[in-house]
Amino acid sequence: MRGQFISFEGGEGAGKSTQAERLAASLEKAGIETVLTREPGGTFGAEAIRDLVLDGTSDRWSGLTELLLMYAARVDHVEKLIKPALKRGAWVISDRFADSSMAYQGYARGLGKARVDAVHKAVLDDFQPDLTILFDMDPVMAMKRVETRGEDLSRFDAESIEFHKELRQAFKQISDDNSDRYFMIDAGASRDAVETRILYAITQKYPDLAGRLGGQ
Ligand code: TYD
Repeated sequence: MRGQFISFEGGEGAGKSTQAERLAASLEKAGIETVLTREPGGTFGAEAIRDLVLDGTSDRWSGLTELLLMYAARVDHVEKLIKPALKRGAWVISDRFADSSMAYQGYARGLGKARVDAVHKAVLDDFQPDLTILFDMDPVMAMKRVETRGEDLSRFDAESIEFHKELRQAFKQISDDNSDRYFMIDAGASRDAVETRILYAITQKYPDLAGRLGGQ
């Protein structure tokens, strides 16, 4: 049986990476082979593109170049890692996927929904996650988290608070447009509370897993 593809989306500092690790561990414990990956990146080639696109000043690439670099990385990721994993029955959790291109390049950078949809359709057809968890959080609080993590800021972390507010609205719009596969959670809650909500979302979507996943 084909595996399931789950993406985590949202702005910066919302705690996606930690929660992706926790969910992968819970699924593995339930006896499901799970592949944890991220975008941009996930394969050797896509990680090289990630370095290109995330480093440097915010005006290094135009929105359109950024979109094409993201999709170049994505196609490599889908062809070499995601689709083969799903085919052998593994589940894939990706920290970001195509909806990030829609939110960041399509909305926040102003390229427009139609252009991003057209690029997606041209290179990946209708390929999308089976389930997307949206980490919704007040951007002011989220940026404080990013600062206290003490990591180097990526080109996107360094954008203005207005940019991050636009992003939040963009993700809400994308969630409304794809309500069949979206589940929004309040990422401002505690780590354990967020984890519980994610496991709830998983058991809503996959009732067969109820009782096999811990943490509830
Ligand atoms: P990362 O450090 O992984 O950020 P986060 O922890 O917030 O996920 O950097 C990924 C950055 O790339 C993030 O700022 C969002 C951006 N991005 C896009 O602009 N478009 C895309 O299609 C993807 C996948 C990511």
